[in-house]
Amino acid sequence: MSKAAKVVAALKVEDLTERQARAEHKRLADEIGHHDKLYHEQDAPEMSDADYDKLRQRLKAIEAKFPQLVDMFSPTQKVAPTPSTAFAKVRHGRPMLSLDNAFTDEELQGFLDRVRRGLERETDLKPDAEIALSCEAKIDGLSISLRYEDGVFVQGATRGDGSTGEDVTANLKTIKDIPQTLKGKGVPKAFDVRGEVYMERKAFMELNVRQVAAGEKPYVNPRNTAAGSLRQLDPEITASRPLRFFAYAWGEAEPRAWKTHSEYLKLLKEWGFKTNPLTRLCHTADEVRAFYQKIGEERPSLPYDIDGVVYKVDRIDWQERLGFVSRAPRWAIAHKFPAEQARTRLNDIVIQVGRTGALTPVADLEPVNVGGVMVARATLHNADEIERLDVRVGDMVIIQRAGDVIPQVLGYVPEERPKKTHKYEFPTHCPCPLKTKVASEEGGVVRRCSGGLECPFQQVERMRHFVSRYAFDIDGLGGTHIENFWRDGLLKTPADLFRLQEKAGDIQKREGWGDLSVRNLLAAIEARRTIPLDRYIYAIGIPLIGEATAKLLAQEYGDADTWLAEMLAATGERKKKPDPVKKEKAAAEVGESYGRLCNIEQIGVTTADAMCAFFGEGHTVDIIKDLRKQLTVEPVTRRVIAADALLKDKIVVFTGELSTMTRDAAKARAEELGAKVTDSVSKKTSIVVVGENAGSKARKAAELGIETLTEEEWVKLSK
Ligand code: IVH
Repeated sequence: MSKAAKVVAALKVEDLTERQARAEHKRLADEIGHHDKLYHEQDAPEMSDADYDKLRQRLKAIEAKFPQLVDMFSPTQKVAPTPSTAFAKVRHGRPMLSLDNAFTDEELQGFLDRVRRGLERETDLKPDAEIALSCEAKIDGLSISLRYEDGVFVQGATRGDGSTGEDVTANLKTIKDIPQTLKGKGVPKAFDVRGEVYMERKAFMELNVRQVAAGEKPYVNPRNTAAGSLRQLDPEITASRPLRFFAYAWGEAEPRAWKTHSEYLKLLKEWGFKTNPLTRLCHTADEVRAFYQKIGEERPSLPYDIDGVVYKVDRIDWQERLGFVSRAPRWAIAHKFPAEQARTRLNDIVIQVGRTGALTPVADLEPVNVGGVMVARATLHNADEIERLDVRVGDMVIIQRAGDVIPQVLGYVPEERPKKTHKYEFPTHCPCPLKTKVASEEGGVVRRCSGGLECPFQQVERMRHFVSRYAFDIDGLGGTHIENFWRDGLLKTPADLFRLQEKAGDIQKREGWGDLSVRNLLAAIEARRTIPLDRYIYAIGIPLIGEATAKLLAQEYGDADTWLAEMLAATGERKKKPDPVKKEKAAAEVGESYGRLCNIEQIGVTTADAMCAFFGEGHTVDIIKDLRKQLTVEPVTRRVIAADALLKDKIVVFTGELSTMTRDAAKARAEELGAKVTDSVSKKTSIVVVGENAGSKARKAAELGIETLTEEEWVKLSK
């Protein structure tokens, strides 16, 4: 974050000027988008639910004060990010919505008041009449939709972006709580049952014991494990994971005989579903509060994670009168619990070295049960954080597990500080065998081992990154295997991976390896000898180059050899002429290759410089060239726009909801026809395709007199 952005981020929403609000809105939207992607597509969140919710709350507060900033790309208008692509898409008959959250009693009261006012307006509800609410524990899993036709389970899908999810039928069929056929009376002819797939804590811990024994990295928490388990391409893997299911809602339902939510829950049970026993129909605000309190007390001893209580207006005709606002119903709310905390002894502070040499301090704790999960390690982020918390080895510390990510240390208990403690001193030298000096950067926050490619710790982490899911995606080399192979000289650089067949005999003799596992591993490696250019670039592990940037680089340079030659040329130019200040000036001042790199969308001088520094390091180039010899890197077929392409040189904007195709598909088609697709309407825009519920962009197009098309017209034009 820039200095200015940091200042704005620290301001209260009410103190923001419109300009600041616009910048802060964008920053929050980007950050939320990034975390949504980690959470929904990669099942690998980096932020706690509580912190994520804070980002969303701030964004909402900004939008409440500056409504002009709301557009359809704002995270408040979306249910969840676009689903990933490994599974077939399923369009939900009725969208799968999310719930608004209440964190405080005032927010709960606000919800109750809104419901009452809404019903008084929309129905003949008398001022003192009771409004029954179905109150249910909020299971911390992932929601899915199950389609039943004539009482038989025919298709199941994840929520995805709310309108389109992924078809995970084969995997759902392995879950015992999901009935294949329904029994009892009154089953609708065709309908969707919705509910939560989750994993019990005990099963999660047992799975982790097996995971660690197999040399793999343990999973972070039950929910992400459940999500990951459900999205396995091989249903047998899903079947081996003890997943459970609670039903609590419906999607499309024809004919629908039930009139209240509680009636529906009873029917679900009769039909053979599991429903959550922690459910009660409450009639007054006090009853609701007492229920929340009671469930909160039971929470640590439950066999599964819950993160709040959901309240739903029980009468369905009332639900229909209240309706929805963008992503959530007005008739329901999730009353969240605070993150779970515990106290324990800080036994040590250990330093972990990351792939790029960043040193992260980690708290080594006396193992403690935090809301049902044993915790022995927690992150301390960086030297500044330790300084801020002033935690010391030997302290009694407070830790927090926010249901999901790595637990955090919140502070220490002053009354229980032992007599002789020492302020923590961040090591001046890397704990790696080279013991290189630690360098500070990024305003002093990040400390790095200066050993670069020579540092064994970094080498191991780079190898781990190289085989990870979005890089070479090699199964069977998780956790400690890489470390062990590295230590014994089997795997020093990525190229060694492709020379492992020569060592098959050695591997087989190792503990924990047999004929089959070695064959599987070698087959997995062989299958990756041909690799798309973007994965290849991402896998190399260049600082600041994530998947998205790797794709841009692949697009720009087209093939592996051109890319490497250009990187080396840019590095050479950069060395000769340091300090380009602006991107636009980079080419003129420094050189053509460096300029080309800086001018790629989303790559600025900072990223370009980080790349040049990487390519300028010791043996980097030798290591890459050695790897390159082992592989066939698939070039990117670049789009060639025919001179007579229908939309050549046109700038197209899509706005509103499209009903016959996804936005990605529409965008891809427009690009195929030669158009450039952008997000905002300006004088330069040629065509605006206006879907349903479009907002400010459609208005702006009209104001500027830009040609607009309906979805139907677009379909005709682009056929
Ligand atoms: S009702 C339109 N009931 O919480 C209302 N959701 O934060 C749809 N969840 O997406 C949801 N337990 O994954 C509902 N008893 C419950 C729930 C529940 C857990 C999850 C669900 C939903 C999320 C919203």
